[in-house]
Amino acid sequence: MKISSLSRRALLKSAGAAAAIAPLPLRAQDHLPASDPGPSTSTIGDRDRRMQWWHEARFGMFVHFGLYSVLGRHEWAMEEEGIPVAEYQLLARQFNPAPHAARAWAKLAKTAGMKYMVMTTKHHEGFCLFDTKLTDYCAPKQAAGRDLVAEYVEAARSEGMRFGFYYSLMDWHHPDGARCRNDEAARRRFVDYIHGQVRELCSNYGKVDVLWYDVNWPLSPEGWESVNMNKMVRQLQPDILINNRSGIPEDFTTPEQEIRAASTPWEACMTMNDSWGYQRADDNWKSPKTIVRNLLSCTRDQGNYLLNIGPRPDGSIPDPSIEILTSVGKWMDSYSDLIHRADRCQVGRSEFADFTRRGNTLFIHAYFWPGDTLAIGGLEQKVLSAKMFATGEPVQFIQEPFRVRFIGLQTTAPDPIARVLAVECDGEPTQNQMAIRIGRKREGV
Ligand code: GLC
Repeated sequence: MKISSLSRRALLKSAGAAAAIAPLPLRAQDHLPASDPGPSTSTIGDRDRRMQWWHEARFGMFVHFGLYSVLGRHEWAMEEEGIPVAEYQLLARQFNPAPHAARAWAKLAKTAGMKYMVMTTKHHEGFCLFDTKLTDYCAPKQAAGRDLVAEYVEAARSEGMRFGFYYSLMDWHHPDGARCRNDEAARRRFVDYIHGQVRELCSNYGKVDVLWYDVNWPLSPEGWESVNMNKMVRQLQPDILINNRSGIPEDFTTPEQEIRAASTPWEACMTMNDSWGYQRADDNWKSPKTIVRNLLSCTRDQGNYLLNIGPRPDGSIPDPSIEILTSVGKWMDSYSDLIHRADRCQVGRSEFADFTRRGNTLFIHAYFWPGDTLAIGGLEQKVLSAKMFATGEPVQFIQEPFRVRFIGLQTTAPDPIARVLAVECDGEPTQNQMAIRIGRKREGV
């Protein structure tokens, strides 16, 4: 069986750690919801109202920024390279991003057609980008000399972006961050610290749209007192959306580096290369087409797509990220409406196109343009009309029992990402591939 480098790292990590202490978290798995979803402070009726903007937004920007950006070797460098706390924390004396670097992030997010942002306020390294009374290990009291979360909030607001705070529960710097797992006094101190910081984040920046917890090692939800913590959050921020990584389900799930549809609200978070934090040597970039295809897959199944940038230590965005998001934005200039206002779409089988739907209209996003004829199989409804979405130019079609062929199309695709056909049907478009197999047998076709 092929093991990806990510899971191999995770396996090694847990194998190596097993003898000495409780298993370390597996990167992607440690925040999987338990099979019994357990308690939650999110009530379903209210959730629909609170989440309406989020469903429509569909596409957001994740920002991983911290001391690890100075190293430029991935945000897990502290642990993976075994860097001692005393050595690592010296980075706080160097980390001093250019003033208002976040404005360029928010502008780029807007250009790309994104509607919200989520920024790391404290990653596993424990360094806080916000002003906190609970530690000196924070941007305002170190080289930066100012509250970088406040700058981010100002930037997001001025571009009309909703915004959220990522906050890692796991903390490699706090003296009780690991000790808390088997020392009750340490647990008490650490949980008070964490709740105190969450309170600060929910009190000092006006309305916050999303609270995005990460890695809840080493405590259980009871140990973190997650229910109480999130009740406090909702008291301070009644409309906030909370993800599932404090160990209780709350408002939405967070499949990581994969698109996994669910019947409850979900958001796939993904890197544009293979690193969340700035990794200067990582050149494994996804193409704009891949990003759009992922966004379409999320849209088809009513999920969100949170796509990451990892700024350099001065806050500037790596050039490939700018180029990719600018291209995605060009595509979104014509098609963003299909992303932000979409219904769940059952049609899904094609090797050259993704599908979205609004009402009885099916949108065929052909990312590998097939030429002058484009065919899909198994559509169960009658096609009433078809046109090119961007230009409104009508498209001729021939409908047969198991196939619709759209004909007389341009042979080459002017849009390098995906051209879109809008196909109006006489009911909600659905596809039945099995009917093709069975029907073909019956009719000997
Ligand atoms: C993982 C990683 C972390 C990253 C996060 C984003 O939990 O530990 O580095 O911030 O995923 O989802």
